[in-house]
Amino acid sequence: MDKFLIEGGNSLKGEVKIKGSKNSALPILAATLLCEDEFVIENVPLLRDIFTMKKVLEILGVSVFIEGDRVKVDTRGAVGYEAPYELVKQMRASYYVLGPLIARLGRAMVSLPGGCAIGTRPIDLHIRGLKKLKANISITHGYVDAYVTKLKGSHIFLEGPNGPSVGATINVMTAATLAKGVTVIEGAAMEPEVEDVANFLNKCGAKIEGQGTRRIEIKGVKKLHGCEYKIIPDRIEAGTLAVGAAISRGEVFLKGAKKVHFESSLNKLKEVGADIIVEKDGVAVKMDRDIGSTDIETAPFPGFPTDMQAQFTALLSLSDGISIVREKIFEERFMHVMELVRMGADIRREGDYVVVKGVPYLYGAEVMASDLRASAALVLAGLSASGTTIVRRIYHIDRGYENIEERLRKLGARIWRQEE
Ligand code: EPZ
Repeated sequence: MDKFLIEGGNSLKGEVKIKGSKNSALPILAATLLCEDEFVIENVPLLRDIFTMKKVLEILGVSVFIEGDRVKVDTRGAVGYEAPYELVKQMRASYYVLGPLIARLGRAMVSLPGGCAIGTRPIDLHIRGLKKLKANISITHGYVDAYVTKLKGSHIFLEGPNGPSVGATINVMTAATLAKGVTVIEGAAMEPEVEDVANFLNKCGAKIEGQGTRRIEIKGVKKLHGCEYKIIPDRIEAGTLAVGAAISRGEVFLKGAKKVHFESSLNKLKEVGADIIVEKDGVAVKMDRDIGSTDIETAPFPGFPTDMQAQFTALLSLSDGISIVREKIFEERFMHVMELVRMGADIRREGDYVVVKGVPYLYGAEVMASDLRASAALVLAGLSASGTTIVRRIYHIDRGYENIEERLRKLGARIWRQEE
């Protein structure tokens, strides 16, 4: 297991190219299962989760070649229908193969993902949506066991108690591309990744409209074909590095970042005192003031993303006031809080929110990463802390940020990876 050693105190300065979106790349790679053909997917980030998806596809009989940020996929020939527990437990997003498999083969056995550090994360909406398409689904021995002769289009309301679901929208939309007739998904997730997957599917010959809105309409087609497709930039990586600029009182140009993808994060950064300049080819973030306080409530897109909550909590722990940060998507996504407290932050949890009283400085400490975005928050805190921070269990961060220490070092950070 590797750990990060961070000497805090340097401002991040310079330019960094934003990598492709992990949460687009995963369902797009899974969706190649829909037909028998060849694909070239560009701008794929080289992350642990992408390698796990490669393994899932390979176990199903698909060839996957990674050449830099291009991934060639060949889905010709027979494919299997079982995604085993060993892989799904490593990465929940493995369940993105469920929709494509049931649509192509009429059969899928996908392990249930089990527990998660950030909340219960049920998959009832995925199942509800696929059942509406007339798939027969049961849960047997820890697996979702699905079969159907032919999926049929349907009118589906897909919202759950916490709002729309990114994963369920993508799984059901993907399956519906090959269903007989028209499917309408009401209460669809509007996240840019959903739109990206729909655009990819349309390039493969699907007939999807309304992606990026609450109502998606899918006209089923008989067959899809392969294509070349370029993944959108990762808005959460962009947001994380933007907070990195702010927390370290630096100035960073996020090359390739698209303002419309992370406007809620940029607006919050402006509110706490950062200058944001939107250019044609990216977004610049500069912080030369004291960090102000603000309140945050996570929400589905275009609201403030849950995937940026931990990073902003780290930032606000250095503000000049009191902030309330409320988590409305994943009830247990506060594992970073006690670690930040170990670095001198003054944060108190009250149910689904935390009260963050700004302190003048954080100090280095040994801390433990618990999930992907929590580990990003600890790295950001370490960049601004006085002294040395050691972040353990950084395999979490490798799931979502490509080569993060090298890219931060290029911006002036003092951060090194060490083997335990
Ligand atoms: C996606 O997860 C992302 N993962 C998450 O990113 C992200 O935090 C999340 O969307 C919300 O934006 C990927 O794209 C691979 P949801 P997903 O279904 O699809 C509830 C990261 O750090 N719900 O939109 O699993 C659920 O519990 C990760 O990169 C149900 O009730 O999230 C939550 O409260 C972590 N039943 C809400 O909906 C269901 O069947 C939204 O979850 C499904 C979800």
